[in-house]
Amino acid sequence: MKDLDKWKAKVEADDFTDDEKKVFDEMGLKGSSRRTFLKQVSVASMSLWATSYFTNDLFASNMEDLPEEVRVLLNEVKVNLRVNDISKPLNIDSRMSLLDALRERLALTGTKKGCDHGQCGACTVMIDGKRKLSCLTLAATCNDKEITTVEGLASDGKLHPMQEAFVKHDGYQCGYCTPGQVCSSVALLEEAKNGEASYLTEDLKTIKKDLKLSEAEIRERMSGNICRCGAYNNIVQAFKEVHSGDSEMPTWEFATQEQMENAKNA
Ligand code: FES
Ligand code: FES
Repeated sequence: MKDLDKWKAKVEADDFTDDEKKVFDEMGLKGSSRRTFLKQVSVASMSLWATSYFTNDLFASNMEDLPEEVRVLLNEVKVNLRVNDISKPLNIDSRMSLLDALRERLALTGTKKGCDHGQCGACTVMIDGKRKLSCLTLAATCNDKEITTVEGLASDGKLHPMQEAFVKHDGYQCGYCTPGQVCSSVALLEEAKNGEASYLTEDLKTIKKDLKLSEAEIRERMSGNICRCGAYNNIVQAFKEVHSGDSEMPTWEFATQEQMENAKNA
């Protein structure tokens, strides 16, 4: 196991940071006595230090493939993931994110890892119809929930209307944020139908179902999905087309001189 080997090599080379050495010193463990102690003590009881050297790859590993000495470091749980209408029982570490479970265990790599910290939206999927950040969702909490990823949007060999609109309106450049943008947009259509409020909702008491979202509303409600390529105008156009049902929605174009002047004087 790569991570475990790294840890063993670290113990062997006595390669610890000053902070770690300080902890060992406080325990009265120095030089060879420290090495002897760390070699003798079981891997499991070293986990206090060792886990900080283990990467997400370890948590995302197939548990059955891990040696027993590593498995004892992990908190194995069973979960039944229902993704795109297919059920898959998995043994996972309880700390594994849904994002890692999708990508590393189910090979559904359409869902992208951008920041892994809930800041970019690249990992957006739908759980029971609601958009969620899969990097901030523990896979273990998704037992038997309906998870939809970008791979599950097309049906009968036909793209989802939102995917078609993204293609038509050129709603992407590098495409890295696109699966998250598309999943977020599809879920937003339902939010509008259900009359869910946003930061821009002026009166919560009078909000109705079947909202017709303004461009400002669309931008606000999609603001959790960052696009480094800046394809925002095209994404909004794509969303507007599906949301309005107007397939004649104009594609993006440069402002005319007159519009520029009007904007300057506004
Ligand atoms: S990868 Fe989840 S929000 Fe960025
Ligand atoms: S298309 Fe490149 S990040 Fe959005």
